[in-house]
Amino acid sequence: MTLGRTELRSGLEGVAVAETVLSHVDGARGRLIVAGHDVEQIAGARPFEEAAAMLWATGGEPIDASAVEAALGEARAGAFALLPSLGAALEARDAMDALRAAVAHLVETHDTTERWQPFAHVTAAVSVFAAAWARRRDGEGALAPEPSLGHAADFLRMLRGDTASPDEVRALDAYLVTVIDHGLNASTFAARVVASTGSDLVSAVTAAIGALKGPLHGGAPGPVLDLLDLVAAPERARGVLESELSARRRIMGMGHRVYRVRDPRAAVLEGAIERLREATRVESSARGSRVAARLDLARAVEREATTLLAARYPNRALRANVEFYTAVLLEALGVPRELFSAIFASGRVAGWAAHVDEERRKGRLIRPTSIYVGAVPADMGSRSAS
Ligand code: COA
Repeated sequence: MTLGRTELRSGLEGVAVAETVLSHVDGARGRLIVAGHDVEQIAGARPFEEAAAMLWATGGEPIDASAVEAALGEARAGAFALLPSLGAALEARDAMDALRAAVAHLVETHDTTERWQPFAHVTAAVSVFAAAWARRRDGEGALAPEPSLGHAADFLRMLRGDTASPDEVRALDAYLVTVIDHGLNASTFAARVVASTGSDLVSAVTAAIGALKGPLHGGAPGPVLDLLDLVAAPERARGVLESELSARRRIMGMGHRVYRVRDPRAAVLEGAIERLREATRVESSARGSRVAARLDLARAVEREATTLLAARYPNRALRANVEFYTAVLLEALGVPRELFSAIFASGRVAGWAAHVDEERRKGRLIRPTSIYVGAVPADMGSRSAS
């Protein structure tokens, strides 16, 4: 029985389905270009609002970052006002389930003065809902946003209830910018597929949240922290990792579909933690030592994991990915691990919105094909693509 002439590309690896001006992942050289800049140039140097403004402008008129900052502030207040109407959405045990349900309550607005304002609405809503979920889980009420603050500063305030230091704000900004966009990753692809049908932004973002939830995509940083807890001390790293691999469990935070070298975002986040460690050491030596110990442990685990995976998969180059140091950075910022994927969504949503915009301009339905390998009626000679 023939399979026809359609070639099957497992996992769509290496298949291009869109042209984009938003970001480019160079897996061989370990470079990530976001809106024309190397990620290292912008993450840690520019606030989230500025990166969002660059993405939302690509292909059109430049957008003033201060306009995005103001729109996000206003949109956070708007999302906060919606909390009472979300029903049981934020009661879900899993933060991503809660986020998906809460975001699904939104309705895309079309009566805005700027094309990108709906992007700000959904971007702001994700962070407000994520913070509200975490506070509710801890038995606390949601905190109203402070629209005059920057997005990262207000996010930390809504989450923790205190005023974050400038170093902490800078570290969260670095994180949000690092994850803002990354080529045609699974959640962005999901968003683009939905957008290609002519559906709305909220539906596309809801689908993207569902895709990001999976442990092979955005669900890894929580388990990375679980692994670090299990290892507990650098000298135990090799033994623990060997038994994880013997049990055929994947080492979370290691490996990537596209990168054949270390994910450049791992280095950006490692640098951001290094800066935070220095700042917290000055501010409180106990906290500084905690961050330092965690960073040392993570580095030891990364070293051993790289060596063990290289021996096991000599042709695959499984190195640290973005999620490895995400775990350490977010922990240092006092973010609970159950919220890590939702914080990832808080950054990536700006990229999803830009991709939805780009896909809409193209206006062609994404509809790949499959190879039928099931039973066929007796009178059919061969299986065919559908
Ligand atoms: N730990 C252990 N083994 C791993 C691994 C990891 N982190 N990543 C890949 N492998 C193994 C696979 O089990 C597979 O082995 P097999 O052929 O014996 O089944 C082999 O390496 C090839 O992996 P493959 O599944 O083809 O890689 P992929 O390109 O489909 O997957 C990831 C990429 C990211 C899904 C994968 O590396 C992974 O699961 N990493 C851990 C989860 C993670 O960190 N996700 C966040 C991504 S940003």
